[in-house]
Amino acid sequence: MGNIWIRCIECAEMRRIEKDRNAVRRKRQKRSVQRKRHGFTACHFVWKKEFIVRIIVTGGAGFIGSNFIFYMLDRYPKDRIICLDKLTYAGNLSTLDAVMNRPNFRFVKADICDREAVYQLFEEEHPDIVVNFAAESHVDRSIEDPGIFLQTNVIGTSVLMDASRNYGVARYHQVSTDEVYGDLPLDRPDLFFTEETPIHTSSPYSSSKASADLLALSYYRTYGLPVTISRCSNNYGPYHFPEKLIPLMIANALNDRPLPVYGEGLNVRDWLYVTDHCRAIDLIIRRGRAGEVYNVGGHNEMRNIDIVKIICRELGKPESLITYVADRKGHDMRYAIDPTKIHEELGWLPETRFEDGIKKTIRWYLDNRKWWEDIISGEYQNYYEKMYGNR
Ligand code: NAD
Ligand code: TYD
Repeated sequence: MGNIWIRCIECAEMRRIEKDRNAVRRKRQKRSVQRKRHGFTACHFVWKKEFIVRIIVTGGAGFIGSNFIFYMLDRYPKDRIICLDKLTYAGNLSTLDAVMNRPNFRFVKADICDREAVYQLFEEEHPDIVVNFAAESHVDRSIEDPGIFLQTNVIGTSVLMDASRNYGVARYHQVSTDEVYGDLPLDRPDLFFTEETPIHTSSPYSSSKASADLLALSYYRTYGLPVTISRCSNNYGPYHFPEKLIPLMIANALNDRPLPVYGEGLNVRDWLYVTDHCRAIDLIIRRGRAGEVYNVGGHNEMRNIDIVKIICRELGKPESLITYVADRKGHDMRYAIDPTKIHEELGWLPETRFEDGIKKTIRWYLDNRKWWEDIISGEYQNYYEKMYGNR
């Protein structure tokens, strides 16, 4: 018994299995017969049929991480998912209610900076893949207090990668953001972020994410850790914490409260429905090339003010609720992703049009009032007062 590595003959990905050598040999022979019989060589198909993949998902009690867990359990019902989350203000255990009792799901409350806890989890679970969503994720909070952003987003990432290196994983995936590229001018609609665009950050948040990306690439180069990085544009969808633009505006509009638009509301974001992001990450961890960065975005640029007006219209609320407030410090003007690489290499394209996605999202907030009302009735009130009270 022990760790044995097998390599996919098609894409050269490595995978560790714990089997005796004869069993591995027998499996290889069986696979080769299967390939001949079916006339294909794709390892992914064979793996899916024969192995249970064990995935540690950090930050899975947050917005995108929870959507990713739902997506993966639905798509690969035999795989084992282990969610590691510190349950900060942004993590919500009730979000995971629907999967908590599944035998192939485990939740572990821990901090990604806690080396002992992280190593112990790797020791227990022997993950094949690690997907790191855990982060402090709100730009406004990073402007108020950058320290925790450096701790979680940089140090936490390094702890996860050390564990991945020590215990051996087939893939470590770092969930990053388009914000590492800084911003684009409003008067140059011909410009987009490609994977070659230089890192040029604006906020403590984006700087911490960029630092983590650089560290991840250095672990690939120096230690050969099979790292991939995705840099996605702004997501929206269910379970989005109501400090971010879209859920904040929905919650405020539903409560007939002012809708605080920063500056003149002309800043542009490239919005992507969260499930499209989850599908992109799934493709990258299975078929993306180690050491590579993949931009993810759906060519759906919109001005903040237009988003807020759509929300008013969909909810039948008056635009007079819109209140222009002091701008964010260092506010990025425009984000716009060029997703050519992930499209050409992995065949990814967004599937949800914004018109449909925003309706689905608003419907979700209407149907799940308790989820967000519980949030905004708690500690969030102090946050809101601090951020918007005298703005
Ligand atoms: P979120 O704030 O909703 O969730 C973050 C989760 O991480 C929470 O469950 C929180 O409890 C957990 N967490 C925070 N610190 C932790 C720690 N030290 N140890 C363990 N868990 C910890 O964030 P999100 O919007 O879901 O973003 C997830 C990831 O995707 C982040 O890395 C973010 O940078 C990236 N991203 C987000 C967007 C977006 O539009 N939201 C776009 C691109 C990339
Ligand atoms: P946000 O959801 O915080 O995402 P990010 O800053 O990571 O892009 O903000 C999206 C845009 O909406 C950004 O330009 C800031 C703006 N915004 C407001 O105008 N009002 C608000 O209350 C919030 C939270 C954001």
